[in-house]
Amino acid sequence: MLEKVRKAVFPAAGLGTRFLPATKAQPKEMLALVDKPLIQYGVEEAIHSGVHNIIIVTGRGKSAIEDHFDVSFELEHLLETRKKKDLLETVRAVSDMIDVAYVRQKEALGLGHAVLRARELVGNEPFSVILSDDVIDAETPCLRQLLDVYEFYHAPVLALMEVPRESISHYGVVDAEPVGHNGERGRLYRIRNLVEKPKVDDAPSNLAIIGRYILTPEIFQSLEAISPGSGGEIQLTDGLKHMLRSRPIYGYKFEGKRYDAGDKLGFLQATVEFALKRHDLGEAFRDYLKHLPL
Ligand code: UTP
Repeated sequence: MLEKVRKAVFPAAGLGTRFLPATKAQPKEMLALVDKPLIQYGVEEAIHSGVHNIIIVTGRGKSAIEDHFDVSFELEHLLETRKKKDLLETVRAVSDMIDVAYVRQKEALGLGHAVLRARELVGNEPFSVILSDDVIDAETPCLRQLLDVYEFYHAPVLALMEVPRESISHYGVVDAEPVGHNGERGRLYRIRNLVEKPKVDDAPSNLAIIGRYILTPEIFQSLEAISPGSGGEIQLTDGLKHMLRSRPIYGYKFEGKRYDAGDKLGFLQATVEFALKRHDLGEAFRDYLKHLPL
């Protein structure tokens, strides 16, 4: 088996019900934070982490994602004739950005099922998974942080975050023991158990799994072996629990700020904070916010 992680799988076939009606005819992954769709933030994170081979799992009504990463001849021609050089470069950069392959999940049968759909394209090598509605603002890209752990342990690694007790039922939650030395600054865990969307009283900890994973190909056998779980869906968390029987899995409490951009409030928070950080917008936007009668 190859040791290097070269591929990133982006499950993008969910229904996005929390964002209806915006997601009725538009994929959630194409909602824009300021001026960039969510999935582009994820793809840029993969590239900045050294992972250039992108696999997107799409579903019905998701063609806008393919169009976004494709060449747009008409638009480029128009920008060229209008001498809009900067915009032309921005548009070209998106289609030049990645080597991308698509696979379809015909029915939204769960995140684990979506990952299983990428099996042929991934092959027998370790790979990463990015859920692009988890947007993570970090000095070192979150995926890179996980890869650093993977490159040492050669075992699956999950992104972990402490979440408030009252919202724990929205997540996959781990029972985990801290491991490692000073190098990991108390952020590394070995997973003992995982539960998808537990009731508050049943949650084994306040450590939730966030949408970044480094996986090894054995996950595919586990996903095939399990039955539908929470919500009647094939859950990635259940697949990981199955895989834990035969191999160790690590968790890493990443450094950085995560926004749940698949949720309305999280999306608004990300929009405001990302806009404030922008060189071309930040000052004017800050000024505008200051004068709001809050
Ligand atoms: P979510 O749990 O956010 O589900 O999926 P969702 O359907 O997209 O959105 P809500 O909860 O109804 O608003 C997490 C990730 O897994 C993908 C989604 O596209 C998202 O990136 N997913 C989920 C699939 O690709 N297929 C599925 O069957 C389910």
